[in-house]
Parts: sequence; structure tokens; C-alpha cells
Amino acid sequence: MTLSNFVNEPVLELRRAPVRAGLADAIGAHDARGPLDVPVWVGQDTRIGDALVSTDPGTPDRVVARAAAASPADVDAALDAARAGHRDWGRRPASERAAVLARAAAWLREHRLEVGALEVRECAKPWPEADADVCEAIDFLEFYARGAVDLEAGVELMQVPGERNTLSYRPRGVVAVISPWNFPVAIPCGMVAAGLATGNAVVLKPAEQAPGCAYVLVRALREAGVPPDALALLPGEGEVGATLVADPRVHTIAFTGSSQVGQEIMRTAAETPAAQKHLKRVVAEMGGKNCVIVDADADLDEVVPALVQSAFNFAGQKCSAASRVLCHEAVHDALLERLAGAVEVLEVGQAERLDIDVPAVIERSAQERVARYAAEAERTGRLAAVAADVPRDGWFAPPTVAAELPSDSPVLHEEIFGPLLAVERVRNVAAACDRIDESPFGLTGGLFARNPDTVDYVVDRSPVGNLYVNRAITGAMVARQPFGGNRLSGTGTKAGGPGYLLGFVEPRVVTENTMRHGLVV
Ligand SMILES: NC(=O)c1ccc[n+]([C@@H]2O[C@H](COP(=O)([O-])OP(=O)(O)OC[C@H]3O[C@@H](n4cnc5c(N)ncnc54)[C@H](O)[C@@H]3O)[C@@H](O)[C@H]2O)c1
Repeated sequence: MTLSNFVNEPVLELRRAPVRAGLADAIGAHDARGPLDVPVWVGQDTRIGDALVSTDPGTPDRVVARAAAASPADVDAALDAARAGHRDWGRRPASERAAVLARAAAWLREHRLEVGALEVRECAKPWPEADADVCEAIDFLEFYARGAVDLEAGVELMQVPGERNTLSYRPRGVVAVISPWNFPVAIPCGMVAAGLATGNAVVLKPAEQAPGCAYVLVRALREAGVPPDALALLPGEGEVGATLVADPRVHTIAFTGSSQVGQEIMRTAAETPAAQKHLKRVVAEMGGKNCVIVDADADLDEVVPALVQSAFNFAGQKCSAASRVLCHEAVHDALLERLAGAVEVLEVGQAERLDIDVPAVIERSAQERVARYAAEAERTGRLAAVAADVPRDGWFAPPTVAAELPSDSPVLHEEIFGPLLAVERVRNVAAACDRIDESPFGLTGGLFARNPDTVDYVVDRSPVGNLYVNRAITGAMVARQPFGGNRLSGTGTKAGGPGYLLGFVEPRVVTENTMRHGLVV
């Protein structure tokens, strides 16, 4: 099979009435079907259960999925199957594996509305975000399929007379994928697709909040032809992930989630128990505290909507979301006033409604966490805006803007992961860069400035993995904005970019003496 050049999957045209009607039908069909049963799925064996129950964050009485939780015996069986399964899968040509991934992408295209509706219900992802998540999942499958074919071709080395040198990349073996809930199909899909494309077997431990979304992803891949022993699904809480991380049969851990859990995984993975004859590799994408600098010459007409989008879309629950604005003192008061005006009128409501700006947060503990930070901001600074009209039932948190906080406030330094944006006054752009440089995080950042010298200065000083200039700071696209953080925000790998697949393979060089010394008879 020849793969055409990669292009991003286009999102739905929601301005068209028939497209919107299709979404309403998909939600209706989803609700009519009732809760999804999500099994522990190892090889050909499935075991259903209800140890994990995922509910609609906007209407917590609505059960979306019931999942079995993987036991230590399930983890054991999944790793045994994967250890056996990776050999056959890894021996297949990359083009054959790529064809399987392309079929999984086709499956997702075909079931696009059904999968989107599941995301709307299970994670309160607003429709445009849910659809973009399915598109990103398709992009990862298509992009890594092509990347693996290119990688298999190897790299040309220097050759001299009498010697032949080759460099090839081989699968490492068993990949444990541990994923978060906030991009419930795209993020597990990206990590699983990278592992499979490069010939590894994968064991997926999805987020406990979104087992239903992980299940449809595994169905897509299995129905596309991934062999049963090359992909297992182990729903469960964090300890299932911890068991996988510690197991000597695992070669690579692909993790996306909080910095705290990521660091714990890196510490555990660094150990080499007696039975383990390899070093584990960890590809980790973690949390951040994403800052946006606004210079005195910035166009506030552009800044305000971009900040609102970056901080409040999906209730601030994107890893890339803006959470701290460092604004030049000359425009600080004007920006704060206009931002407050924009945030107070944000429409907060159920994710399936196309007219809302901000949905519920994922769970009760997230709602409580955002409220704790808002109370801290009110106690030590000022709440410049709080959206007025917030539904009572469901895990809603009012979009909030905080200001005049002490420079050591946790609201300025810790990841809140909710709809709370802090605005801070700075003397100039250099002072803003100094403050950002104090942060242990380095995921995304933004800058609004008209002077090209200022742009160059901030580009040079910014420690983040993804810096956005004069635009919103969320919405990275596969192949266009390879995504991933530095410092405590990640291992420096870039999802959806060149080089990402190298985290899933090991390089082998063969050098052959090609001088012949007589004939062997
Ligand atoms: N950098 C990125 O690309 C990126 C993308 C999305 C989300 N995130 C980050 O993810 C976080 C939100 O997601 P979350 O709440 O699901 O994160 P989380 O760290 O709580 O959980 C992520 C996954 O790790 C598992 N886990 C928990 N404890 C574990 C342990 N001790 N060992 C192994 N696995 C364990 C969870 O069950 C879940 O599957 C935020 O910090 C966000 O910034 C980062």
C-alpha cells in the first residue's frame, strides 16, 4: 500500500444546519443506547464489571460507562500476552502495520459522531472540542503510520571502501501506555499508535474517568486488524498503572498526565530489578503552568478573545490552557477591565449545547480544587471577574479572573487545571521573562507584542516546549505544532512531530567487513 502525503483531518463544519442536526441525532442515539460496558480485554478474553463507573460531569446522575477494573492477575496476563505478541507484530513490515493503523483511522472517520457523542457525555467535552479530538486521533494514526514506514528505511551512514554500515530501528518490545482523561481518544490513540506503528505490543491503562472512550479506541484498532496479543485494555485506577510501570516485562512507558505522577513513574522506571535485562524508557508528557505575556503595544482587541479561548475553552482543562497572564503595567488595567467584562458573560452549561462557552469540569474533586484556588485568590488578592450564571447540578466551576495576587501565591505557580485565570502586573517584558524563568514548568506559553525585536527576545528566553505568538495558545495540530513540554512538564518529546517514534525503538548498527579474503569452499 502506498500512503499519500499526510494532511490533517478536517473538523466538522458546525455552521451548517445539517451537520448540527447530525450531532443532535448522535447524542440522542448515544442516550438511547444507555451505558457502555467496558471490559478488561486481554487477547481474546473479555471480562465485564462495574468497579469503575463513569458519569456525565454535567449531569452526574447519567451513567455513561461501566467498566471492569483490571486485577493484578489481568496485568500479568496482559503482559504475558504482549511479550509473546510483539514478536510476530514486530516482524511484520512497517507498511503492513501502517495499513492496519490507516484502517483504524477509517473506522474512527466512519464512527466519528458516535465517538464524539461519547466524549461529550463522558468528559463534558463541548462538541467542537470532541470533534477536534476525534480528528486528532485520526491524525496520529495516519502520521505515525507514515513515520514508521520512513523509520524502517533506516538512516544512511558514512561508507568507506571495504566496509558496509547500516543503521536500523527495531521495536523495543512491550509498551505500557498510561493516559489522562482530557483528550480521551486522541492522547491514548497517539501513544498507542506510536507503539504499534513501530512494532511493539501495547498494554493500555486509560484514565479511570474515561474508560468508555478508551474502549472505542481499542475496538477501532482491533477491528482494523491489530492482533489480540498486540493490544490489551486494562481499565483501572492509578495502581494498575503503577503495577505496569514496576513490571520487568515492560520496556517502554508512554505516559501523559500530571507532573507529580509522571515524576513518580520516572523514579520507579529507573530501577532495574534482577529479572530485568534492560533499562526502561519513559516518554512523559506532563502538566504545566502556562503563561502569556502581553506587552504594552499589543492589540487588546486580539488579546482578549485569544485569552478567553485559551483559558476557558473546555473549562481550562487542556494541558496547554493559559492560566497566568503577565501584562505590561501600561495596559494592565485596561486589559483586566476588558477581560473581566468578557469573562462575566461567558455562557456556562451542558457540553452538548452548541451555544455554551464553558462546560462542567470533570469531577467533584476538580470542582473543589478550583474553588479552593478561587478562595485563596479572593483572600490574598482580588477576584476581578466571576461568571454569574452557573448551573447548580453537575460539576460546574465559574470562570474566574484573579488579580493583585502576592508574587508567591500558589494561584500564580501551581497548575489549577480549571477555569481560573490569574493576571499579574509586570514592569516590562524582561521582568515577565524573569518570572516565567523561575517556574519549574515549561509546557506552553504565549506572547502578544507588535515589535519584532520583542518577539525575538521572548523566543530566545522562553523555556517552554510550545510558544505561541499573537494567537491563542491551545489547539496544537499534528505535524504543524509538534507538542510537548520541557523542564518538569515533559521529557522533551514532541507528540505529532518528527523524532517522536524514536522513543519507541532501539537503534542497531551493523558493520560488515566486505573485503573478501579468498573463497570458502
Ligand atoms: N503535556 C501534555 O501533553 C498533557 C496532555 C494532557 C494532559 N496533561 C496533564 O495531565 C493532567 C490531567 O490528567 P489526569 O488528571 O488524568 O492526570 P493524572 O496524572 O492524575 O492521571 C494520568 C494517568 O495516570 C494514572 N496514574 C495515577 N497514579 C499513577 C501511578 N502512581 N502510577 C502510574 N499511573 C498512575 C491515572 O490513573 C491516569 O490513567 C494535567 O496535569 C495535565 O496538564 C498533559
